[in-house]
Amino acid sequence: SGILTTDAHHPSNSTLHHLTQQLLQNYRKEVRPVQNWTQATTIYLDFLVHAVLDVDAQNQKLKTSIWYKEIWNDEFLAWNSSLFDGIGEISLPLSAIWSPDIIINEFMDVEKSPDLPYVYVNSSGTIKNNKPIQVVSACSLETYAFPFDTQNCSLTFKSILHTVTDLDLAFLRSTEDIEKDKALFMNDGEWELLSVPSTYHVMHNEAGDFAQIQFHVIIRRRPLVYVVNLLIPSIFLMVVDLGSFYLPPNCRSRITFKTSILVGYTVFKVNMLDEVPRSAMSTPLIGVFFTICMAFLVLSLSKSILLVKFLHTERNSGQDHPLFCFQRTSRARLADSTHPIRTSLVVDDSPTDVPHCQDHQTQGEVLKDALVQLQSISSCVQALDQTAQQEASWVAILYRFDKLLFRGYLLVLGVYTITLCSLWGIWSSLKTTVRPSS
Ligand SMILES: *[C@@H]1O[C@H](CO)[C@@H](O)[C@H](O)[C@H]1NC(C)=O
Ligand SMILES: *[C@@H]1O[C@H](CO)[C@@H](O)[C@H](O)[C@H]1NC(C)=O
Ligand SMILES: *[C@@H]1O[C@H](CO)[C@@H](O)[C@H](O)[C@H]1NC(C)=O
Ligand SMILES: *[C@@H]1O[C@H](CO)[C@@H](O)[C@H](O)[C@H]1NC(C)=O
Ligand SMILES: *[C@@H]1O[C@H](CO)[C@@H](O)[C@H](O)[C@H]1NC(C)=O
Repeated sequence: SGILTTDAHHPSNSTLHHLTQQLLQNYRKEVRPVQNWTQATTIYLDFLVHAVLDVDAQNQKLKTSIWYKEIWNDEFLAWNSSLFDGIGEISLPLSAIWSPDIIINEFMDVEKSPDLPYVYVNSSGTIKNNKPIQVVSACSLETYAFPFDTQNCSLTFKSILHTVTDLDLAFLRSTEDIEKDKALFMNDGEWELLSVPSTYHVMHNEAGDFAQIQFHVIIRRRPLVYVVNLLIPSIFLMVVDLGSFYLPPNCRSRITFKTSILVGYTVFKVNMLDEVPRSAMSTPLIGVFFTICMAFLVLSLSKSILLVKFLHTERNSGQDHPLFCFQRTSRARLADSTHPIRTSLVVDDSPTDVPHCQDHQTQGEVLKDALVQLQSISSCVQALDQTAQQEASWVAILYRFDKLLFRGYLLVLGVYTITLCSLWGIWSSLKTTVRPSS
């Protein structure tokens, strides 16, 4: 009886074993499972986006986690379930049966997808192959509108070898259902899944006609974190920068002020480099804008330096003062210019003071002397006036240039504000068009 019980529990006595053996006994996995070779095997596909793991604009890669389902019919794997204890469905090793060679066209790298060795087969020979996969796919990512950007990445499924006459593709569910299905999507990351429209094509090339199914994964960035961390601080910096134009252009503290803003900008840009996606094809608008603002700042700063330098050399022509500030040099210059006149007067005064009660002959000389002195004073004043006029004209030119720069700055700021608002508008209109349908 011991032998009988072991026999009764022998695996070869189980119905499952029996059925599997029956099915695979004469099975050739090399052969496409159709009785009539003219008939194409149709593979039904289903696709669900589970998560967006990484969007790499620099390398133009998208990493997604997807649930992918293939269903096809194997005419050689059908059985009469009433002959096998009513078994309706069994699992078979995928390696033992024929399976379609469907790949993702944009595929760059399959990362750590679990290797699932079994598939379900039901009694009419329908095989279901479900697999979760992490796909790293090539995708042309547009960073122009960052952080209000939407990305459209396609995943194209097609057979690598079989033409449409051998292997056809079809949707398992209706395309509307696939498009709106976000049930599985992990919706608390940076990216929001808008929709997954899909299309079926027959692609013609020199090797033949191939059936292909494209799923367009349309995702949108949630911009709040970037608005708080990047946009708002940058707008503050820009407003302060704009305020610096209200300082008179020849004020030396303006240089210090602008230099510190420039340093602030530089620190900000270095910080931003890590946050803003970089791609070779398109630069984010926000980066272009910052560069333009920086150019304005540099232009205005160099103009201020030029102004101070010009006024300084004009007033100290010939003298070498290492002083940089405008107001101090002007006062020093004034003191310098008045000094020789005063000393010469004093020198002339002292002899006239002592021999005050002397003869009239000397009075004519004194008058002559005074005339000469007056002439020299008037020429000195004229020269001063001329330089003052020259200075004034330069200051006027630089003021005008400053005004021009200010206007340009305002214009750029205005354009940027309008662009940001319209991008925001487009971004939120996408939301409103998608919401009612979902
Ligand atoms: C298989 O098991 C049944 C009982 O479930 C028994 O009657 C039969 O003899 C066994 N057959 C073999 C070949 O072991
Ligand atoms: C195969 O199918 C085609 C039509 O689909 C039919 O004309 C042909 O006779 C079939 N061949 C066999 C061997 O059944
Ligand atoms: C399955 O087998 C049962 C019993 O042998 C038979 O009556 C039935 O017609 C078969 N069904 C099919 C679809 O062959
Ligand atoms: C096998 O599965 C397919 C697809 O799900 C279904 O249409 C078919 O009715 C199933 N066959 C049986 C016998 O359950
Ligand atoms: C996504 O891109 C594909 C082509 O790559 C295009 O056919 C499709 O219309 C695009 N979808 C949207 C919503 O932009």
